[in-house]
Amino acid sequence: MTLSKLNPGNNLSREFLEVVEQSAIAAARTMGVGDRNLSDQAAVEVMREVMDNVSMKGTVVIGEGERDKAPMLYIGEEVGKGEEIGQTVPEVDIAVDPLEGTNLCAMGAAGAITVLASSEKGGLLNAPDCYMEKIIVGPSAKGAIDIEASVEDNLSAIAKRLDREVENLVVVVLDRPRHARLIQDIRAAGARIRLISDGDLSAGISVALRGTGVHVVMGIGGAPEGVITAAALKCLNGEILAKLVIKDEDQAQRMRNMGIRDLNKAYSTNDLASGSKIIFAATGVTDGTLLKGVRIERDGVRTQSLLMNLDNRHVRFVETIHLADRADVTLRL
Ligand code: FBP
Repeated sequence: MTLSKLNPGNNLSREFLEVVEQSAIAAARTMGVGDRNLSDQAAVEVMREVMDNVSMKGTVVIGEGERDKAPMLYIGEEVGKGEEIGQTVPEVDIAVDPLEGTNLCAMGAAGAITVLASSEKGGLLNAPDCYMEKIIVGPSAKGAIDIEASVEDNLSAIAKRLDREVENLVVVVLDRPRHARLIQDIRAAGARIRLISDGDLSAGISVALRGTGVHVVMGIGGAPEGVITAAALKCLNGEILAKLVIKDEDQAQRMRNMGIRDLNKAYSTNDLASGSKIIFAATGVTDGTLLKGVRIERDGVRTQSLLMNLDNRHVRFVETIHLADRADVTLRL
């Protein structure tokens, strides 16, 4: 029996790996150019193009925005090769962030990644494009956090679970004026802070991995990023608790029209990513805590990716050399 017959998700994972790798390479070629839109466009175009070769019937549920605002990877777009005669392919929902950290890539700063997550139909919340308040922890602190609790209470509960003092916790926070009070509260509780200019999705994955030196993400970031983080955390047994942040009555009405009845709902990891067949793939564009960035070398282009499959419980760190014409591969362990 072939591997693909044993688990069709294996094939899909491999094909998704190619999607995030190629879009990362395209984005990395724009690194430092100083134009975030150019970087984003490079990643989006290549991601869309490579996705057409994937054996699936996919529907974008989280993407580049509404159909009238985004030419590709818009919400509702059908992607993938579809069914060929005599072949059945998986029907999946797709969530993408073709380039998380457009500014980071444009400036050549750390932490830009390309990301794709999928699930069986209905397994990812179709989050509106608004802000989301989040608190994210890894497996050891799962169940200890409460989005309604104070910063001090959450940090002391996390510290207890991690068997360390609050003073030895590192909290990742997006460096934004809206977080002035949060930062004050974290400092008052005594924890250390890592302020990041962008990228709470990759930070959310980092806190679920031991050895990254960060323990919790707190604050307000994008809601779509929150859902994709939840997909990754399901694979890593971490936890995200979240609430939508509604800026005005217009936005509240838009959400009611989307069918969101309780605008004050506290979402769990499972509410955001309920699927049991989640696949998650991300490739580093610039060097970061989570992944190495794209390296263009003599033997070819090297990429490092994180590939996870909830169904078969695989977490893979994949190093790929996309060989140049000359095939004298350098061994780097
Ligand atoms: P881009 O991928 O569009 O560059 O956004 C990155 C990001 O920093 C996310 O990680 C975060 O969730 C969101 O933007 C925060 O939004 P804002 O920059 O409006 O505070």
